[in-house]
Formats: sequence, C-alpha cells, structure tokens
Amino acid sequence: MTAPTIHRLRVAEVIEETADARSVVFALEPHQKERFSYKPGQFLTLHIPHDGASLARCYSLASAPDIDSALKITVKRVDRGRGSNWLCDHAQTGAEIEVLEPSGVFTPKALDRKFLLIAGGSGITPVMSILKSVLGRGTGDVVLFYANRDEDSVIFRAELLELLARHPDRLSVAHWIESTDGLPTSDRLREHFSAFHFDEVFVCGPGPFMNCARDALRAIHFPRERVHIERFNSLGSNPFESVLAARGTDPVAVPRASTVVVEKDGATQTFSWPGDQRLLDVLTTNGMKAPSSCSEGVCAACECRLTEGRVEMVNNQVLEDEDIEAGYILTCQALPLTDTVRISYDS
Ligand SMILES: Cc1cc2nc3c(=O)[nH]c(=O)nc-3n(C[C@H](O)[C@H](O)[C@H](O)COP(=O)(O)OP(=O)(O)OC[C@H]3O[C@@H](n4cnc5c(N)ncnc54)[C@H](O)[C@@H]3O)c2cc1C
Ligand code: FES
Repeated sequence: MTAPTIHRLRVAEVIEETADARSVVFALEPHQKERFSYKPGQFLTLHIPHDGASLARCYSLASAPDIDSALKITVKRVDRGRGSNWLCDHAQTGAEIEVLEPSGVFTPKALDRKFLLIAGGSGITPVMSILKSVLGRGTGDVVLFYANRDEDSVIFRAELLELLARHPDRLSVAHWIESTDGLPTSDRLREHFSAFHFDEVFVCGPGPFMNCARDALRAIHFPRERVHIERFNSLGSNPFESVLAARGTDPVAVPRASTVVVEKDGATQTFSWPGDQRLLDVLTTNGMKAPSSCSEGVCAACECRLTEGRVEMVNNQVLEDEDIEAGYILTCQALPLTDTVRISYDS
C-alpha cells in the first residue's frame, strides 16, 4: 500500500462559529495548491497531539473548490472528545498542522441536478461545500434541510442567509430546531421531503438523525443508490504514525486468488487479486488512483459497488446492512470469495 503523503499546512485564521464550533482556515503555499485541489464534500485528515502521543481525525472541508480561496474545516466540540477539543482550544493563527491530502467520496458527480441536502449539527460542513459548489459552479437547485439542537447551535447561519438572498430561485433552506420543533422523526421528515422533487440526496449528521432521514427516504421510495451518506466516526488508527498498523492484521480465512474487473471514470481494467490482499492494496499496487483514507473500515472513503461476485470485509464499522444489500463494499477491507469480482466506482 502506498504511504500517504504528509503535508504541513499553516493556519491562516480561526473563526468562532458558535459557542462550541470553530472553523480553522488553512493558507496554502503555491507549491501545495495542486496536491490540495479537492471536490466538494471531501475531507482532510489532521494529525493532533494527544497525551504525549498523537491521534488522526478527519474533518470535512466546508469551503468550496474554485469559490473559496482557502481551505476551511469546521470542528464541533465533542464531550470529552480528544481531537475536537484540542483543535478548538489550540488551533491558532500561524500554527502549522500536519495534514493528509483531501479524500472522500461524499461528492456529487455533477452539479446540475436537483439536490436535497440533509444536515444535522456539524454535518453541515461537507453539505455546505456541496451547496456552494452547486450554486456557484453548477446550474442545479438545492433544498437544504438543516437540523440543530437550538437556534444558537446553527453553524453558517449568516452565510446561508447571504446565499438565500443571492439565489432565491435555486436555494431553499428548512431549519429544524429541536428545542422548538421536537426531535425529528421519520414520519415528520417524510412529510417534509415528499413536498419536494429531487434527483440526488446527501445526508450527514449524528447517527440517529441519519437513520430517521434514511427511513423517511425509504418510505417515499427514493432510490438508495441516489442517497449519499457521510458518517463522522473517529479513526482508531493513526495513518501519520504507522501506515502498516492502519491496514489491520486480523487473520481471516485466506480465500482464493481471484480476478477483479474495475469500472472507474468510464474505463474498465482487470487485475489479478491474490487471496490474501485487500482490494484497495491490489488497486493501488496496480497504479490505480483508488479513493481511500483510514484504511481501517471506519470512514467509507474507499467504498464502491460490487456488481458481480462476492467479497468478505475484514472490518466494517461504517456500512449498514442496507448498504451491503445495495452492493456497497469497502475496498480497504475486502478479500475475494469468488473467482471473479466486478466492482464499479461509477454506478
Ligand atoms: C469523513 C469524516 C468527516 C468528518 N468531518 C467532521 C467535521 O466536519 N466536523 C466535525 O466536528 N467532525 C467531523 N468528523 C468527526 C471527527 O473526525 C471526530 O470523530 C470528532 O471530532 C470527535 O473526535 P474527538 O477526538 O474529539 O473525540 P474522541 O476522543 O474520538 O471521542 C468520541 C467520543 O467517544 C468518547 N470516548 C473517547 N475515548 C473513550 C474511551 N476510552 N472510552 C469510552 N469513551 C470514550 C468521548 O467521550 C466522546 O464522546 C468527521 C469524521 C469523518 C470520518
Ligand atoms: S478507507 Fe476508510 S473505510 Fe476504507
């Protein structure tokens, strides 16, 4: 597996968004710009000191490529959370933080569609990047459904108002404030969502909120393959310290060698797949630019669709049964179970 490249980014600004959320803006040196080009909805992985050692944590980019000149992440404090509190307390203008290049598949393939964007709390960060890209670089329309605990917790309120004023025909924002509207339920979300027509859905927020949203979308028979979900899990391993440790070493029954046929960006390639290698390693060893981040089954940055054959996932902490039934797999965790496996990054 190719070791990730570590970069040092300088903090240009820290913005207090709400009482418990800070944005950290990174300035890029000219030589860093190419490696840090990104797609709306992608995230950075940060190296954070902790207790004499360190942690790696992913944070979505709230900035939009080709619209915002700098990269911005927005971090919400988690109660007793190690990384989020360190960033909120210690990230300062002028400081340098080690960061991996942008990654992630929570990104629209085209910006000319009708989008329903569903965000809960800090889940607004990747959603904001997508929203600004659709409005600023595409021709699509956006309905944003944005849930928060109370009025004071709403991140990016002023920016959203500004965008609403600028794009009144293409953007609508529905706020759900738990302190007055109550907890969102799938029935109430279903009523809400069925009032709109949309082609593509992006969902990011706390687990129970996303489950409600998924149930509501299922109830209105919205196709699963057009629902994109980002889960904010903490990484267990540290790709900055040990790439090998991040691969996981659990012994599994060694399956047969196989052949994998890969569809990506409209092209098809075929590779032999030794039975003891994870699919992601096979793809990168063969020179493919396969998306990934944690390499430990936590972030879903490496997901693709299985269109033929079967695989076993060594560790899966992010895909749900419904995702797996719909054919999604984690390439960083997949070992082959059939002689031929076909996957697609395009469908
Ligand atoms: C792709 C991706 C994008 C993300 N984007 C964002 C973003 O834009 N903004 C954002 O705010 N977050 C984002 N996250 C989440 C972020 O990466 C962290 O998971 C989050 O900040 C919490 O990390 P932490 O280190 O503060 O908490 P952790 O230290 O990981 O703790 C998390 C919880 O576990 C509990 N805990 C910790 N250690 C123990 C223990 N030993 N025993 C029992 N309980 C324990 C803590 O009390 C806390 O409640 C993203 C995650 C991913 C995967
Ligand atoms: S790279 Fe994170 S789950 Fe595979």
